[in-house]
Amino acid sequence: MFTSRTLTLNDGRDMPKLGFGTYKIDDAKAADTVKLALEEGYALVDTASIYGNERGVGAALDGREDIFLTTKVWNSDQGFEQAKVATAASLGRLGRASVDLLLIHWPCPGRGRMVDTWKALIELRDAGHAKSIGVSNFRPQDLEKIVAATDVVPVVNQVECHPAFQQRELRQLHDDMQIVTQSWSPLGRGDLLDHEVISDVAAALNAPRSAVILAWHLQSGLSAIPKASSRDHIAANMRAEQLTLSDEQIERIDAMDDPAGRMGPDPASFC
Ligand SMILES: NC(=O)c1ccc[n+]([C@@H]2O[C@H](COP(=O)([O-])OP(=O)(O)OC[C@H]3O[C@@H](n4cnc5c(N)ncnc54)[C@H](OP(=O)(O)O)[C@@H]3O)[C@@H](O)[C@H]2O)c1
Repeated sequence: MFTSRTLTLNDGRDMPKLGFGTYKIDDAKAADTVKLALEEGYALVDTASIYGNERGVGAALDGREDIFLTTKVWNSDQGFEQAKVATAASLGRLGRASVDLLLIHWPCPGRGRMVDTWKALIELRDAGHAKSIGVSNFRPQDLEKIVAATDVVPVVNQVECHPAFQQRELRQLHDDMQIVTQSWSPLGRGDLLDHEVISDVAAALNAPRSAVILAWHLQSGLSAIPKASSRDHIAANMRAEQLTLSDEQIERIDAMDDPAGRMGPDPASFC
């Protein structure tokens, strides 16, 4: 089955579906690891100021505009002025005038600054420092709040999503609002690779188990940003683009969903 490598965002721009995550890749290794990912064909790289690796990521990209680059505004930088200052610092570390996608990393509802931060991202987009803007870890009420205040709908909500925590209600809301769901920890931090269903499907397709999970994301209309450290893992994950799961295989993975399967922090309280 041929599927496009890109999704169209609600602002009309295209974004690669499969990207490379860089959380826990330290700055000293980021340049070499991201270069490996680019060699293996990744066209999207996901970083964040809190990852501490923007210099290494920027060095690997070396100004390449054909690679879709995402970074994020950290929680302690929320606020109208603070977010603009923090983004200028991120761009400085990345060595670029703009990123393709700028996200608010967490909603931090207790901090009460998500609307002001969103207004800063709108201004940064209008000034050309971010080609597209979106959010991460936003709940329905957070999405409704920033849209009600600004009439600007995020292009992406990057959230924890994997076969053991499929976020079906939130994904339906995203579809209704024309927001792309981007899955973080798409492999369940690697913990799902030994699941019986994944092993079975991988054996049937003679494919890497990680590629089976990532193919499930892609065929479900999701963007996914797996992180990997070695060339073997990086290349295995790219095999997802060549795989086609049958309806029955998709249904078996759909059935792994567990509403209690969250592995990361809860956006209601994390900040
Ligand atoms: N917005 C947010 O709040 C947020 C939160 C968390 C993550 N993220 C983003 O999402 C990205 C991915 O999430 P994640 O790093 O938490 O988890 P993940 O991508 O689900 O899993 C990464 C783990 O899987 C292993 N792995 C990857 N490919 C493999 C393969 N082919 N075979 C065996 N093991 C493999 C990696 O090991 P090796 O490293 O040894 O290859 C690593 O331990 C992050 O890097 C970050 O960019 C965003």
